[in-house]
Amino acid sequence: QTRRLNAIDILSRKGGTPIVSLTSYHAHTAAIMDPHVDFILVGDSLGMVMHGLESTIPVTLDMMILQGLAVMRGSKRALVVVDMPFGSYEESPQAAFRSAARIMKETGCGAVKMEGGVHMAETVRFLTQRGIPVMGHIGLTPQSFNTMGGFKVQGKTEASVAAVLADARAIADAGAFALVVEGVIEPVAREITQSVAIPTIGIGASPDCDGQILVLEDMLGLSPRVPKFVKKFGNLGGLIGEAISSYAEEVKARTFPAPENVYTLKTPAATEAAA
Ligand code: KIV
Ligand code: NA
Repeated sequence: QTRRLNAIDILSRKGGTPIVSLTSYHAHTAAIMDPHVDFILVGDSLGMVMHGLESTIPVTLDMMILQGLAVMRGSKRALVVVDMPFGSYEESPQAAFRSAARIMKETGCGAVKMEGGVHMAETVRFLTQRGIPVMGHIGLTPQSFNTMGGFKVQGKTEASVAAVLADARAIADAGAFALVVEGVIEPVAREITQSVAIPTIGIGASPDCDGQILVLEDMLGLSPRVPKFVKKFGNLGGLIGEAISSYAEEVKARTFPAPENVYTLKTPAATEAAA
């Protein structure tokens, strides 16, 4: 496949080979993952990962667009999905359309993602009917951090199970092409997957979801603290620390830069001419 994957390619993967996805906010990490993933999410988790914020609430549309552009430049095969940040879409379908249209026009990405269930279904329908592919995001929705009282796993009570199932169905029925299911107890995440016709993308959810996503820095071992659902597939934090410590030692010992790392004039004649 030489063309970029699109939202319909992802939709058609329901019940098939699991969909592989990761977050990226940079051209270089996007290029590294591009051959291995089906879609790249430019997540608003960039607020925490890149900027050290406590939550995703302060993230702006401009921040998402800048990093979305970087990921588009770095990738050529994977679908790029850009998160709609807090405050850019909740107010009305019209406000959401304006924000999503800006993201798509200014980055060239193939889809946007927004958090929310039943109450966002009208907005999802408004956007998809007007040419904007939408990925939903239900369960633990980090932008609701302040009203949920923190990052809380969902589906632990009967009322919560009913609510999260209703959210999943509402977003799927509204025309979303895929649905991130985050922080939902495993049997409920499985039930959601069985009860909607669009692919579910799990994070802290279930191996029975139609795909999985993780924050790149978390799975690489670069994040200082990670939730239980993260598996560290690498220890880049340790490797970076070791490399920087070697660099510091060599600078202080004047063994770096070595002869091969410095510029010299090549011929004696050139040396004389320059003198
Ligand atoms: O912002 C993000 O990284 C996300 C994923 C973890 C789903 O929304
Ligand atoms: Na997000």
